Amino acid sequence: MARLASSGSVALLSALGVLACSSSSKDGGAGGGAGGSGGAGGTPITSYQGTHCDYVVPIAETVEEASLDAPDVGSEPTPRHVHVSWAGPSASSFAVNWSTGLDTKLSAVVFGTDQAAVQAADGPTEGVQVERGYTFQYGSTSPLFPNQSHRVHEAHVCGLTAATTYYYKVGGPGHWSPVYDVATAPEPLSAAPFRFAVSGDSRGDPGTFTALQQMILADGADFQVFTGDAVVVGANQDHWNAFFRGTTGSFGVEEALARIPFMSVNGNHEAFAFNYVAQFAFPPENREEYYSFSYANAFFVLLNDTVADKALLGKQGEYLRAQLGRLDRSKTHWVFAVHHRPLYTCSNHSPVDEQVASWEPIYDELGVDFVLAGHNHCYERSKPLKPGGVEVPLGTGTIHVTAGGAGAPLYGTGTDCPFEAITEKTRGYVSIDVDGKTLRYRALRLDGSEIESLTITK
Ligand SMILES: [Fe+2]
Repeated sequence: MARLASSGSVALLSALGVLACSSSSKDGGAGGGAGGSGGAGGTPITSYQGTHCDYVVPIAETVEEASLDAPDVGSEPTPRHVHVSWAGPSASSFAVNWSTGLDTKLSAVVFGTDQAAVQAADGPTEGVQVERGYTFQYGSTSPLFPNQSHRVHEAHVCGLTAATTYYYKVGGPGHWSPVYDVATAPEPLSAAPFRFAVSGDSRGDPGTFTALQQMILADGADFQVFTGDAVVVGANQDHWNAFFRGTTGSFGVEEALARIPFMSVNGNHEAFAFNYVAQFAFPPENREEYYSFSYANAFFVLLNDTVADKALLGKQGEYLRAQLGRLDRSKTHWVFAVHHRPLYTCSNHSPVDEQVASWEPIYDELGVDFVLAGHNHCYERSKPLKPGGVEVPLGTGTIHVTAGGAGAPLYGTGTDCPFEAITEKTRGYVSIDVDGKTLRYRALRLDGSEIESLTITK
């Protein structure tokens, strides 16, 4: 959470929940730090920084620091909605968000490489580390959804070793989540192989989303990107609760979301509601609205194309150009742009002219390999294209993907689409393997069958 609350839009009533500091700093030493004994309850804080993190998360100014003298366990302290993402380097950090009952302010994460030690720990113990988080409560961002007070906790863990599996649990003494595992990325610019998943538009059907997450977990994805529209109404916390509590059979969606870093863009149904920003931890640049991250030899830039002011499309174009322009493409072999609305589609929603005009020339000039989008509830994959829809050989140009089949009502895929290589009205997701200069792309249906696959070598 980084976005500053607009006055009157939310009620951030609560507190920095800190149970323990890491061993390196008794008082935490960071902007949001309230470690040590006798923290001053009620003190407003404006930022949070994990102990070894080289970035700071701005916090809504009405968040308050909690007292450590009487940590409030509350009546529903068991963590739920646990999910991981990256706000810092993928090779050395992870961030975790979760929820509890309103009165619970325990906000800590125990982590380490020894699963048994993490399982046994009830606080700072040999063989584990403890990072402090922060917590806050918010109401609804819309008068249409009153009485939806919700408590979120967030913690950022940094200083980790690359290509390493860490075990962690969140909560506080006596009230921990299950122990989950999350792996850091290979060393930056490494040519080590990895796999990631692409899906979008789950809105209204958390069961399908959960089934896809079960597939993505079983498929061994190292992380995932989500193309937006997780829920029908981003300001409706009930919709988010359903999203984070999805089940299919005995499988709960937390099993996947707590293990596979989930990097999302804002969709038009989120409408950048506070609930969206509050419940995820993404790189804090640009208020988490648009951001980028690296994973091994790949670079990802995630943009927001649901903007009230079209000038923000141009501003993101400037950001895009700056981010891509500094890459050494002899080492960063693959570049992916992710946003909600596709630039090429033959389905229900047509491309937005201003978005195409702002971003496509930059994608072309700076060699974006794939544009991953959703918004249209189907599967579409374009031929490799230059601006204007001009087909070029595989391995050149940009491939545009619509991966909008994560649950929302399906759309038709249109006909007479010369720029499309394949379209299908189906639910599913995309799995991409990167192995040095070779990329293997698979599009999968919800039943596990393959829509198509292709291999690109540079
Ligand atoms: Fe959409």
